[in-house]
Amino acid sequence: MKHLVVYAHPHPESFNHAILETTVSALEKNGHEVEVRDLYALDFQPVLKPSDLKAIKTGKTPSDIKIEQEFVAQTDAITLIYPIWWTGLPAILKGYIDRVFSYGFAYSYGEKGINQLLAGKKGFIINTHGTPKEIYDEMGMTAGIKITSDMGIFDFTGIEPVEHLLFGSVPDIGEEALKDMLKQVEETVNTIF
Ligand SMILES: Cc1cc2nc3c(=O)[nH]c(=O)nc-3n(C[C@H](O)[C@H](O)[C@H](O)COP(=O)(O)O)c2cc1C
Repeated sequence: MKHLVVYAHPHPESFNHAILETTVSALEKNGHEVEVRDLYALDFQPVLKPSDLKAIKTGKTPSDIKIEQEFVAQTDAITLIYPIWWTGLPAILKGYIDRVFSYGFAYSYGEKGINQLLAGKKGFIINTHGTPKEIYDEMGMTAGIKITSDMGIFDFTGIEPVEHLLFGSVPDIGEEALKDMLKQVEETVNTIF
């Protein structure tokens, strides 16, 4: 199976980077073909500009968007790995979605409503956050994060959300708990793909 991993964290020594390494290594061990798009390393330009909209509308998609769309088009599964920032996606990843999941590529409007142009692909998300998991679960934030990403981005475009892991208290939970989280990442990859 072809896998695209879109990764958004500025520090190579972060826990998110350890999640990236664990995910890629588990996928490769299972014989999958993996492509990683590290948005900070690529210095991805995340702002959807008026010129982008005009270019996309006239079929002249800018080359940096086209490159990323080619990776999306050719993959069977997309995994997003990112920390929760202000209860959502880091701006660089939000901008990737704004620009790459464009009208006419990821979705369009038809007579029967929305055409989900990425149907047939699978989607997996791994998030970390600072707030304890129980607090986010209890206040409805976990559900909110899941609905806006699994449904609002994946399902909206036809991608089937297969799993969404959220790890809380990451900055202060300690080494052993972090190791357990990485084990959970590996086990989940082994189970769902
Ligand atoms: C700009 C910014 C915004 C953040 N917003 C949130 C937030 O809304 N909720 C939360 O629980 N943690 C928030 N955090 C904490 C990060 O999610 C947390 O430090 C990160 O997931 C830990 O993983 P890392 O060590 O790989 O960075 C924020 C951190 C930053 C830098």
